[in-house]
Amino acid sequence: MSLPTEMRHIAHEAGGPELMRVATGPVPSAKAGEVLIRVAAAGVNRPDVQQRKGAYPPPPGASPLLGLEVAGDVVALGEGVDGFAIGDRVCALANGGGYAEYCVAPAGQCLPWPRGYDAIRAAALPETYFTVWANLFGLGRLQPGEAALIHGGTSGIGVTAIQLAHEFGSRVYTTAGSREKCDACLGFGADAAINYKEADFAASIKEFTGGKGIDVVLDMVGGSYAAQNLRCLGMDGRLVLIAFLGGAKADGLDLTSIMVRRLTVTGSTMRPRTAQQKAEIADALRAKVWPVLDAGRCGPVIYRVFPLDQAADAHRLMETSTHIGKIILSVAAES
Ligand SMILES: NC(=O)c1ccc[n+]([C@@H]2O[C@H](COP(=O)([O-])OP(=O)(O)OC[C@H]3O[C@@H](n4cnc5c(N)ncnc54)[C@H](OP(=O)(O)O)[C@@H]3O)[C@@H](O)[C@H]2O)c1
Repeated sequence: MSLPTEMRHIAHEAGGPELMRVATGPVPSAKAGEVLIRVAAAGVNRPDVQQRKGAYPPPPGASPLLGLEVAGDVVALGEGVDGFAIGDRVCALANGGGYAEYCVAPAGQCLPWPRGYDAIRAAALPETYFTVWANLFGLGRLQPGEAALIHGGTSGIGVTAIQLAHEFGSRVYTTAGSREKCDACLGFGADAAINYKEADFAASIKEFTGGKGIDVVLDMVGGSYAAQNLRCLGMDGRLVLIAFLGGAKADGLDLTSIMVRRLTVTGSTMRPRTAQQKAEIADALRAKVWPVLDAGRCGPVIYRVFPLDQAADAHRLMETSTHIGKIILSVAAES
């Protein structure tokens, strides 16, 4: 197959969405262990917004272009890649560079499109499924029969977390910022949804659990929620931090409950993990989660699709926080 040498991509400078523009540049080449994907669709994630603002620089060696997840077909294989062939339809957790017509990704971070999926739905999977698997089930060790509290229930991450926790047999409580969002969370499988703008979620959790508390909290708000999160956790509870939308500082925090109730406070970011660590997460997803997606028991909720050249509008929408589920860029027709 002959490949073009140039491609369209979204270039940006640190600042607002108005600094995003369509540009032309070289098609990347697949290095050892990587595949080159002709991108049909790319997911938009909150970390992209942070990167665009200049607050989340790409790790060394990663593409400076925005975009952490893509779906498309494999058009070239780097040295030593096995398990994928030219023409395979894959979705991939990219290390960057997804807002483009071509994107490279380590082969270990690629997964097949689940049964019946198109590119838009496939592109909506990697970032949230890798993150939720590694944090809620990995670090958080959520077990069937336990109770989880998922903050930001209608975020891309939140929807996936609610669905998977419910699917794997946990009771799921969630928070969101409006009645409409709370109703949506119940539709995704949450047992109860708390509008955090109207109620103290820690008090609600105490009531819902009869005072027993939660086993795992998955949190993207951070400092401003820290005290309430600790109050929500029952004996041996785990608090997993994945972002600080509400700030990273928690002044005056009373740590007594960590000792008295043997709590674990942990957290992680996906992007700086090694290719080997990401491949291990992909293997677990392939074995445990892809059959659930194939069977249609969980799946992405697509809120809106923008063409690639309207990526700035996709970011503007994300920054309103009015969306429920995923925002996707349509890059090219599926081949
Ligand atoms: N650690 C990791 O590896 C990792 C990986 C991927 C994403 N993340 C993080 O996970 C979060 C969700 O990502 P996403 O792409 O799913 O984002 P998203 O779809 O844009 O959702 C973010 C949601 O957070 C809520 N929110 C925003 N500001 C808030 C605040 N100050 N207090 C409470 N809630 C707030 C909003 O809903 P409401 O209307 O309900 O407030 C918003 O819809 C982001 O912070 C992202 O950086 C972390």
